[in-house]
Amino acid sequence: MTSPWTIGIIGGSGLYAIEGLEDAQWIAIESPWGKPSDEVLCGRIGDVRVRFLPRHGRGHPVSPRDLNARANIDVLKRAGCTDILAISAVGSLREEIEPGRFAVVDQFIDRTTSRENSFFGTGLVAHVSMADPVCPRLSEMAAAAIAGAKGKVATGATYLAMEGPQFSTRAESRMYREWGADVIGMTAMPEAKLAREAELPYALVGMVTDYDCWREGEAVDVAQVIAQMQLNGKLARDMLVRFINVLPEAREPSPIDFALEDAVITAPDKHD
Ligand code: ADE
Repeated sequence: MTSPWTIGIIGGSGLYAIEGLEDAQWIAIESPWGKPSDEVLCGRIGDVRVRFLPRHGRGHPVSPRDLNARANIDVLKRAGCTDILAISAVGSLREEIEPGRFAVVDQFIDRTTSRENSFFGTGLVAHVSMADPVCPRLSEMAAAAIAGAKGKVATGATYLAMEGPQFSTRAESRMYREWGADVIGMTAMPEAKLAREAELPYALVGMVTDYDCWREGEAVDVAQVIAQMQLNGKLARDMLVRFINVLPEAREPSPIDFALEDAVITAPDKHD
């Protein structure tokens, strides 16, 4: 029996392929929204179809501000994904969310400024709800998969999306803590918004690589981020395989599958 799930995995820095994928093949998928970060690695784990896209491309050629999140989400939709699990390296804004821990995100503060952040616009206007920006059932299964892989997990994290590519100043880092953010990264927005517009349930797991720079005398650098990512890489891959193996046999419909139903404001005869 084939599974009703087709899982899109967006791999962050340090996660450029996944192991254990059967019948795996990199496939180029075209999008009217431009060039995605890479081809999509299509295969299956057991009877679950898996579509893997490395967010920065294989070898990391794509910088956070040049990411074409519209094309990335669009090619995953075209590849038949029913749901998306995204992984991303993040800095921590909380003492108790130490490097090495995995943070399951449930809210966002979007401070990105110069990215195409919607599939809609003049001619066809839509306003989707982002009140609850992630899919609770995917997040729950991701948290269980991390624990099952013997990883340390923090749930209910608020993710601050910054523009980059530079890291934050200390004043910004401290301000984000006051705003209630728990982790910080450069890539999950507008990705999460676009997934919602594409009616794709989305969950985000942050792999914590550093404490950003809010602690006196400490600053984040790329060497530290890469070293921690390498330490976390195997766990992240184990977590993904577990996540796929624990998916229920049936996929109950999610309200996110119909996110556009009450979101389009342009009169129907204008977009038939
Ligand atoms: N990705 C990993 N660590 C980060 C940090 N401290 N700030 C922004 N993005 C990050």
